[in-house]
Amino acid sequence: MNQKPFILTIIALLSLIISCSTDYEETTQSAAHMSVSEAKLDSLINLMTLDEKLNLIHASSSFTSGGIPRLGIPELVFSDGPHGVRHEHGRGWYALEDADDKATYLPVGICLASTWNKGLGYDYGEVLGNEAKERGKNVLLGPGINIIRSPLNGRNFEYLSEDPYLTGTMGVGYVKGLQDQGVAACPKHYTANNQETDRHNINAIISKRALHEIYLPAFKDVVQDGGAWSVMGAYNKVNGQYATHHEYLVNEVLKGEWGFDGVLLSDWASVKDTREALLYGTDIEMGTELLRDLNNPEYDEFYLAQPARELIESGEIEERYVDEKVRRILRLMHRSTAMNDHGPGKRNVEEHQQKALEVAREGIVLLKNDGLLPFNANEIQTIAVIGHNANRLFAERGGSSQVKPLYEVTPLEGIQTLVGDNAEVLYAEGYEPYYDESLFRGASGDAASQSRENMEDVELARSANEELMQEAVALAEQADAVIFVGGWIHGHEGMPWGEGTYDAEARDKLNLELIFGQEELIRQINRVNDNTAVVLMGGSNVEMSGWLPETSAYLHAWYPGMEGGTAIAEILFGEVNPSGKLPVTFADSHEMYPSHAVGEFPGNESVEYTEDIFVGYRYFDTEDKPVTFPFGFGLSYTTFELSDLNVAREDGTLLVQATVTNTGDRTGAEVVQVYVHHRDPSVERPMRELKGFEKVELEPGVSAIVTIELEESAFQYYHPEELEWVLEPGEYEIQVGSSSRDIKLRADIDL
Ligand code: BGC
Repeated sequence: MNQKPFILTIIALLSLIISCSTDYEETTQSAAHMSVSEAKLDSLINLMTLDEKLNLIHASSSFTSGGIPRLGIPELVFSDGPHGVRHEHGRGWYALEDADDKATYLPVGICLASTWNKGLGYDYGEVLGNEAKERGKNVLLGPGINIIRSPLNGRNFEYLSEDPYLTGTMGVGYVKGLQDQGVAACPKHYTANNQETDRHNINAIISKRALHEIYLPAFKDVVQDGGAWSVMGAYNKVNGQYATHHEYLVNEVLKGEWGFDGVLLSDWASVKDTREALLYGTDIEMGTELLRDLNNPEYDEFYLAQPARELIESGEIEERYVDEKVRRILRLMHRSTAMNDHGPGKRNVEEHQQKALEVAREGIVLLKNDGLLPFNANEIQTIAVIGHNANRLFAERGGSSQVKPLYEVTPLEGIQTLVGDNAEVLYAEGYEPYYDESLFRGASGDAASQSRENMEDVELARSANEELMQEAVALAEQADAVIFVGGWIHGHEGMPWGEGTYDAEARDKLNLELIFGQEELIRQINRVNDNTAVVLMGGSNVEMSGWLPETSAYLHAWYPGMEGGTAIAEILFGEVNPSGKLPVTFADSHEMYPSHAVGEFPGNESVEYTEDIFVGYRYFDTEDKPVTFPFGFGLSYTTFELSDLNVAREDGTLLVQATVTNTGDRTGAEVVQVYVHHRDPSVERPMRELKGFEKVELEPGVSAIVTIELEESAFQYYHPEELEWVLEPGEYEIQVGSSSRDIKLRADIDL
């Protein structure tokens, strides 16, 4: 849909080629990424002492790894995070108070994925790349591309989808947009980091098939198609070995099969063993549990510092393992702003705020509309805006992804600005957040079991503040229309480590019940005012059966960034036609999800992925289980028709063509989704798997022909015994639709 990113890619590519001296040659990865010649790297490495080499492979402060001043090799400078360049930490471990570090706060990852707009993935990365460069960063710690396995994962807001293809596709755009500015992407967390409970130690037990079909493909995409210069290893173990130094995942798959020639960075304190880190591919160790005093850190205490020196000097491990890490680090430095001039960056410019707005406009999903929306500001005299989230700021919460935004438009402000003098906007908070530590699964298994036993506290957080509720209901009763803004929050003062609540790092949710008495509040508002639209924030859905049937309109806004309030108002009042589509299935309770119904979550020391490849809609659709809103679903103020499916073979690929027509009376955008299904497979396969999509904007009455190319890999599965990708002959059904449960066109092909 958006040609600009491709043109920009080409321009960036040309300028890179033009700026390359004879020292540079193409690598095996994307041609857009040039590296210094290997011979030059070797001669540089030959000049280094062992101590100098070791300096490069571990942290030298909270967000830098060491350099070698004698040889003109700088430190590498890292920054979180996925949706904005994080606060400055200086060299210390705490955010600096007075730094000049305000940044553009983009909508969170799951909101980006909801746009299903590949071009926006690129633009998003481009904004981050420019802002990171302006602040002197070389590596940005994103995108977050772990698969959303359970709706309870506290970090789902940072991730993209339950589907590997959608995750990979949006992730590739992000990586290219970022790296075209000279800032290395660091897709994270490799891999199977699908929960926060016991995140430092949990052992995820997963079949090779599920790894290759579900948990690895997005990483493969960002490495091979995106050309990522670095990847971050996860905290957890996978099948018994820590992911950050995993012989199979790092050495065999990432660096072997996929040909990744960049840096495998640890997560902050994810290295647990010097020997394994040396042998199994960890290139830089960041953060460590070994640091005894954060105020007086001794970086030589890191696993890849003094302990590594001992293993090498004793002859137990050969120095060439360190040389290989150093080679990768130098490669990354030459590619990125660390050792190469990529021009100036820019920060907090209007075009970045416009991008934040565009992503929010396209990422917010309209899930229900009984004809209430869009509101007509000229026909409404009083609007009651109700809910704590209407007036709450989100940017500076949630853990490592937090951003200090230049500003943040709340929904209340967005609505007030849009409505202006046309109507009176009244506000009531309606409910208030309050906390009890025992509500949350902590980072340790013990806290997890405690919290589940302590159901009384759960009751407490579910109950409403009577006074606030009555005040809000009275306001709702007298208004012409009500906009309720609620849902999840990120965190709050006074919380335990990381201020994590609900949607936050190091915490998982306990269940999907609406917190702080909001369900009762919505029910009461619905009782007194039919014209009520519900807007929810959050990295996941909530239980809906208690309030949705009586609710006329429901918009899911995720955490929509610094311009989120503007976008919410524009959609509610019809200035923008919503076009977001769910990147995850919304079912009514967490127990309905395969990770809970069939598999295990969050486990205890280990967690078995018994649901195997049947994650998200692959499970719901194959097992025909009820969902409230399916994967890929989202409403518009106009209507679309899909017709004329045509499937043709061409040079080993399959061209799937369909016509999409805007049959309503407003300009709008539809996402044409292509799923593949094997009719009679020899092993269990899902009812459908997303293998292509395209978003098209159309004026009323206008049609477009969409062509989606499916390569052979779109039909393959990972053979559980042969342990390789296989194309099984037989009859395949191509399904084209506007959600996983709304397949409108089908065609059979024999392969
Ligand atoms: C998180 C990473 C983050 C890092 C640095 C870790 O705790 O898991 O996602 O990039 O901290 O802040």
